[in-house]
Amino acid sequence: MPDPERILVIIPAAGSGSRFGGDVPKQFLPLGGKPLVQRVVERFLFDAVVTRVIVPVADMLLSAVKTSPGERVQFVAGGATRLQSVTRGLEAAGDDVDLVAVHDAVRPFFSIDTFHATLDAARRHGAAFPGIPLPDTVHQIADDAIASTPDRSVLVAAQTPQCFRVAILRDIVARAAREDADATDEAGLAAKYGHRVQLVHGDSMNFKITRPEDLVMAERIYAEWGGEGDA
Ligand code: C5P
Repeated sequence: MPDPERILVIIPAAGSGSRFGGDVPKQFLPLGGKPLVQRVVERFLFDAVVTRVIVPVADMLLSAVKTSPGERVQFVAGGATRLQSVTRGLEAAGDDVDLVAVHDAVRPFFSIDTFHATLDAARRHGAAFPGIPLPDTVHQIADDAIASTPDRSVLVAAQTPQCFRVAILRDIVARAAREDADATDEAGLAAKYGHRVQLVHGDSMNFKITRPEDLVMAERIYAEWGGEGDA
């Protein structure tokens, strides 16, 4: 019998999250009384296919969130950028990994079905991401005016979890480090470096909590779902 597949989830959470406006980085704001990042970690741990969850956090938080060796979740020191934090997570995982999912700490309502579909697409194609069509027309702006209007039918908004065979994620973070390139999205980086990154249909519920009103909406959804996945 072949060895069971080892699936690692990296949740970069080392940012200062200042765009939200408060002192607390947005990934630590409470949803249903627990920090968002904890909600996300628990949802992944609830899924039996996940071997390990690694959460890069800011250095100053490390001592507060110590875990013991052997636990399925581990906190490690993040880096100066999101991509460097993902890289630290990958380094901490060592060689015991086949597939890696990178997920935003501020997307608590990701669907397990979509996660599995994305893993499956990564298994077959090497890399995959969930994307959704854009509800709004998007314009490219120059000098406060429309410069061009891309065809909306060929655009998608990228979500997470973005999934990769480990060799591909290692390749793209190493190349980005060599070229001093940064990225907000690993899927886009993989495509830039010539890998096929398969689109999987995402869900509108898997929105990113970036503004205070998103958190208000998230609390309502959480209450309506009856605290699903609560541990
Ligand atoms: O700041 P931004 O919204 O782009 O961050 C995206 C994600 O990357 C957040 O979850 C943040 O915590 C994480 N991040 C990180 N290490 C950094 C910067 C951001 O893990 N140095």
